[in-house]
Parts: sequence; C-alpha cells; structure tokens
Amino acid sequence: MAEIEAAWTRFGERARADAARPIGSLFDAEPDRLARLSVEAAGLYLDLSKQPWSAAGFDAALALARAADVEAAREALFAGDAVNTSERRAALHVALRAPGGGRFTAVGEPVSQAVDEGRTQMAQFAGAVRDGAIRGAADRAFSAVVHIGIGGSDLGPRLVWEALRPLEPALELRFVANIDPSEIAAALAGLDPAQTLVIAASKSFTTAETLANALAARAWLRDALGAAGDAHVCAVTANAGAARAFGVEPERIFAFSDWVGGRYSIWSAVGLSCAIGLGWDAFAGFLEGGADMDAHFRGAALERNAPVLLALAHVFNRDGLERPARAVIPYARRLALLPAYLQQLEMESNGKGVRKDGRPAEHPTAAAVFGEPGTNAQHAFFQLLHQGSDVIPADIVAVAESAEGPPPHQAMLLANAVAQAEALMIGKPASQVRHDLATAGLEPEEIEVLAPQRAFPGNRPSSFILMPALTPQALGALLALYEHKTFVEGVLWGINSFDQWGVELGKTLATRVQAELEGGPAGLHDPSTAALIARLTQSWT
Ligand code: F6P
Repeated sequence: MAEIEAAWTRFGERARADAARPIGSLFDAEPDRLARLSVEAAGLYLDLSKQPWSAAGFDAALALARAADVEAAREALFAGDAVNTSERRAALHVALRAPGGGRFTAVGEPVSQAVDEGRTQMAQFAGAVRDGAIRGAADRAFSAVVHIGIGGSDLGPRLVWEALRPLEPALELRFVANIDPSEIAAALAGLDPAQTLVIAASKSFTTAETLANALAARAWLRDALGAAGDAHVCAVTANAGAARAFGVEPERIFAFSDWVGGRYSIWSAVGLSCAIGLGWDAFAGFLEGGADMDAHFRGAALERNAPVLLALAHVFNRDGLERPARAVIPYARRLALLPAYLQQLEMESNGKGVRKDGRPAEHPTAAAVFGEPGTNAQHAFFQLLHQGSDVIPADIVAVAESAEGPPPHQAMLLANAVAQAEALMIGKPASQVRHDLATAGLEPEEIEVLAPQRAFPGNRPSSFILMPALTPQALGALLALYEHKTFVEGVLWGINSFDQWGVELGKTLATRVQAELEGGPAGLHDPSTAALIARLTQSWT
C-alpha cells in the first residue's frame, strides 16, 4: 500500500512539473523521445510522443503501473480469475478470440471447447443464411437481418458492420436499440418479412427495450407469415432459458457465457449478425486481430506495451493534470461509431467512484469521452480543442489506405489528421500572429485586440493511432487495444471495470414511472418529477 501511495505522489509531482514544459520542446531535450514513445502492435502504429510527459514523467507513470502490479492483474485476466469481483466472475473476452483449441478456464472451469463449438455453430449458421441453405418461411432466401439489442449488445455489432460493410451489401443489416417507437418502425420499413431474419441479442434477455422491440418484430413477422414467422427469430444470449420462454426455437438460440461482459461481447455470438452480413472469413479476421493484440498485451514489457502506454497517457492527463474529458477523432467515416463504442467501453467500465474494496476511489477515474469523425469534427468543436479554457486531450485514429473513393480525398483526410495533431501541440504564439497582422497592414491598436484572439496556446496533447487499412484484423486489434487500455486504467484506479451497478437505479424508477404514465396510482415523487409525470399524463389522455 505504501509503495502505491508513494508512486501516486511521485507521479502527481512529475505531472505538475511537466505541465510547465511545452510538449514540443521535449523533442529537443529528449533525442530518443519518438522512438521511446511510439510502438507497433498487432499491425497498429501508436505515437504517444505528443503527450505531455517528459522522460521523467513517463518513468513516474511506468513506476505507478509497476506499483499497481499491472503485470499480475494482466495475468489474472488471462487466467480467468474472478477479476469481476462484485459479481465473482471472470472477464474472459480474450478466450473468445483466441485461436481454436485453446485452454482457457473461467474461475477454474475449462471454457475453450464450448467457445470453439459456439464459433462453429455461428460459422455454419452464418454461411447457411448467406448461401440460402437456411431459408425463410416462404422458402425464400433471407435478404435482411434486423439486429435488436442495446448497449454492449448493439454498439459493437453496429460499429463492426459500419466499419467493414460492403458499399452495396447483398444482405442488408439494420439495427434497433432504442425503445423510441420510431426506431423499430424505421428498421422494419420497406423490408419483406418473408426475407427478414430477426436477431434479438441480450446477454440477460431481460432488458426491457430489447424484449419490447423483439416482441414488436415478432408481431410484424407473424402478421405476414403466421406462426411460421417465429422461425425467423434468433436469440443471442447468456440466458438461454429466458430466450426459450420468450418462444425462440432451441436451434435458433446462440448462447454465450456469463463471463462475457456486455460491452466486451462483440467477440461472442453477439457478432452473429456481422458474421452473416460480412461472411465468416471477415468475422474470423476480426477475431484474429483481437487475438494479435491480446498476444502483444500479454507478452510485451510494460514500457513497450501499446494498451499500457495508452492507459498511462490517459491517466497522466486525467489524474496528473486533472483533465476531465478526452476527444476521440476517427479520421475515417467508417469509424464514425468509434466514439459511441468507447463511451460505453470506458465510461461504463471505469465511471466509478468506489474501489473494488468498497473504499472511495482516491483519484479521479474515467474521463468523459466524446467525438466525431474528422474532418467533420474540425468544423464543429475543434475550436474548443484549440482555444477553449479546458485542455481536452485527443485520440486521433487514422487509416493509411482507403480502397474507396478518389485518392486525393484520402490524402486530404490524412493531411488533416496529421496537421491537427501538430497544430494542437505547437500552437501559434501571439508574437507570430502580431507579426502576420502587421505584415497584412493592420493598425497597431487593432493588432493588440486581435492578436490574443487569434493566437493558439498549443501544448494540447494527442495520441495518434495509425491503422494500415480498415481490414477486419486491424479493426479487431483496435478494439482490443482500447479494451486492454480500459482494463489497465481500472487496475491503476483500483476499481472493478467489469460491473455497472450505476445503471440500475434509473431502470427501476423508469418501470415505476411508466406504470404511472399508463394510468396506475401516483407514487411519491419530488415536486419536479411529479409535475413532469402529471404534464405527460395530461398530454396523453
Ligand atoms: O444497462 C446497462 C447494460 O447492462 C449494459 O451493460 C449492457 O451492455 C446493456 O445493458 C444490455 O444488456 P443485455 O445484453 O443484457 O440486454
């Protein structure tokens, strides 16, 4: 305990000292800086040299990782120990993407054989739907899949599909997450029930939104196809009993285990719709990329370990320099959903104020994550990144090669990614602005007013992640990189990254409020809530 406290103290001191030094100047002071702070892992290139740490700051961050025993925690994760302490479960998503024939155990129970069998079931089903061997009730091949799920049962598949989908897919995938009635209506609009497969994905199979949407989709199938429509409904779940009780036919249930966390479940049968839409080879490539990152994470020394370095950079900003948010800017339209995916991964995993041992967290935990694709983001909120009163570090994710569209566009896109990272770091001093304005012929009084407004403070940190191309492998590596980064942060903060008790209260209250909105007896509420319920009840009746 004393060792970790001393490491935090030293870390804080170093971070505060580094805050006073322009990041750009550190390249002159540290000739090995770029080599030391850039790393290649599972085909991705990661550059953390534009982060605010000096060599001494970096060493203090590394010492913190050692004092927190990140290496032992990493081993416990891969060993299938009950790292999800509050639910006494393993968090073994790494077993889902490991090559076949593995020997993983979850809290002592062998799991790899079941994982392999699940994968075979998925691959066979996906292949048979794609080639028309499995057909709809009217003996017609499926042409659309409606994937219903929310949170971790939605964000991963949606991102993977958008990232990898063909421009003109033979099989269309649509996603329904929200209970907003317009979402299911929009997803079903224009589809032919006779050619539509519905996949209800829910780890618990109790999530209200998912069950309501699945019921609506089944009713839509039954309206058109009668009881035969039920064979168009698949369930992906860790609660096969509930899926059977819902009426899903046993051969249409794709099971996974409770040691798969919802937001880590894209690697499980939750990826079934993607396997159908993209084909098994692409999905297998995605798993392979995840496994490559796992091998790197497990084997690389901490100082050359991409997820560890990314986590340390984040903690340096978050805890060392009290930065409350981080922007994620994918310079790829196809990765537009990456910020949304990371919002759940990071904020649901690490948005906690209490440690595993029940004590309050001693250091600020997860930062707020937001983002939009570049270059769109540049024309929206980059003003704040460059000149706002808070320093918001950015992750810039770029893809070197694009097989789509006119080549000059890709060069422009990448130029923007690189230039923005440079601009954030170097800024533009008021002296330079004054000089430029004087050269342009402005009067001295005007220059005095304008120069401070047009200057850029710089010294704004970013991490740069470069993917070679948007292949299934590279995408798998990217998501596994962020998963392990999130895990390492949780270890440093002493929190359980694999539970989410904070989502429960709102769910419970929503059930009560819904009963009131639907005419049930009024409950006890604060005046504001009671007034809202009254207003909504009136507007409904
Ligand atoms: O409400 C939070 C949550 O439990 C997430 O953690 C999860 O990804 C999502 O709901 C969906 O849960 P399920 O897959 O059980 O429907």
